[in-house]
Amino acid sequence: MTFNALKEKGMPLEKQLRNWHQIVGKPYNKTEVDCYTRTRQILMNGIEVEAWGFKHQLARYLDDSEDKIKLSQIGRIENTQQMTCNWMGPADQSVLETTLGYEQVAVDLTAWLAQNEPDKYVKEVFDFGLLEDFDHLYRYAQFAYAREGIEPSAIVQGQTDVIVGRPTQHHHNCNGLRKRKHYDKTTASPQTKVNILTVLSGEQQTHNFYAEHGFMYGDHVLRETYAEIKDVEEEHVTMYESLIDPSESLWEKFLVHEFTEVCNYYTCMEDEVDERIKKTWEIFLDMELGHLQIAADMFKKYEKRDPEEVIGSEIIIPCRFLSQKDYVQKVLEKEVNKRLAPDGEFYKTIEEIPEDWASYPIQERVGEISAPSENAIRIGGIYHDRDIVEAKESLLEKEPQILKKGLQEKAVAHNTVMPDELEEMIEKHESREEAKEKLI
Ligand SMILES: [Fe+2]
Ligand SMILES: [Fe+2]
Ligand SMILES: [Fe+2]
Ligand SMILES: [Fe+2]
Repeated sequence: MTFNALKEKGMPLEKQLRNWHQIVGKPYNKTEVDCYTRTRQILMNGIEVEAWGFKHQLARYLDDSEDKIKLSQIGRIENTQQMTCNWMGPADQSVLETTLGYEQVAVDLTAWLAQNEPDKYVKEVFDFGLLEDFDHLYRYAQFAYAREGIEPSAIVQGQTDVIVGRPTQHHHNCNGLRKRKHYDKTTASPQTKVNILTVLSGEQQTHNFYAEHGFMYGDHVLRETYAEIKDVEEEHVTMYESLIDPSESLWEKFLVHEFTEVCNYYTCMEDEVDERIKKTWEIFLDMELGHLQIAADMFKKYEKRDPEEVIGSEIIIPCRFLSQKDYVQKVLEKEVNKRLAPDGEFYKTIEEIPEDWASYPIQERVGEISAPSENAIRIGGIYHDRDIVEAKESLLEKEPQILKKGLQEKAVAHNTVMPDELEEMIEKHESREEAKEKLI
């Protein structure tokens, strides 16, 4: 049965204000929570931050005082929803543990979107971003183990592989290259619009989380790694927002924002395994249907058009969290050497990049002392003989080859762990493991 969000009345806005007890709620238990309940919680916080921020931007362009007040009333509710979502995270979940959760969101969400994206070009952009967040997860996993003794499986619960991706030091690009071609608002499917706004909201919040928390560790190498990866998340925001047609009106954007919230809560509600949290998704879906009615009314009032022209008549599933290991491995092995080209194009391989590639000077400048993300592997080596990885044996065996394929020859930081060194680390680890067994 299809669900037409525009035909639902939802909860009236005047009934949406809750008391502090309801707003704050109770956190989940970090050792018992399903990893995909945590990813939903992290993503929905990002969706709410975007929904709240957009409303304030819109209000600054609006002179009609009645609509301005209504907009601020909705913004107030988004603010309470954001609190409920973010504060589901427990106080004893460390910044690094939460960070692994953020990168698991990015990997498994982007992989889902790529496979459910009708626009081939947008799908290619999703696949490209995917391999970068996949590498971030691997870099942070080194610190989580070294600093806090956390195995990645404690967070990703075996659903997401942890192994080298496109090396983070090669994610720093010229802004002109990050800019992609935008869709055409008159022909793009509602699914493309919702998919992009969903991942964009997630990436923006990942950036914000690193900005607000990366300094909380005394370890200088870890602080620098947060800074380095935060810069990539900034690029991801630039990349994904450039896919949006800039000629969409503010009212059209308002409509897409509320519809994106509806679709994401609808998916969360369908998939949630924690009955208590599922109840929250149900209530928030009802609230968002109420917001959508108001956005649709304002769209009709200012644009004199039918909202269905923009968001269609069917619900979209933008955030179905599932293990995506097979898909990610396929993209990893095929596209780890892919790079950005001007005018929204892609170079297929590193070999195709011209000598004067615009991202080389950026990478040489930021990595001129060292690449913090490379020190991450060295730290893994010190604490564990080799890097911390989690994947099936047949993929682990390929790690040095994947690294070799993903590394450029130019603009490589001097502290880079080269494939032969990684191989030595792996051998050392294996011989130590054998020696340990003999002792036992
Ligand atoms: Fe909301
Ligand atoms: Fe990331
Ligand atoms: Fe990202
Ligand atoms: Fe909303």
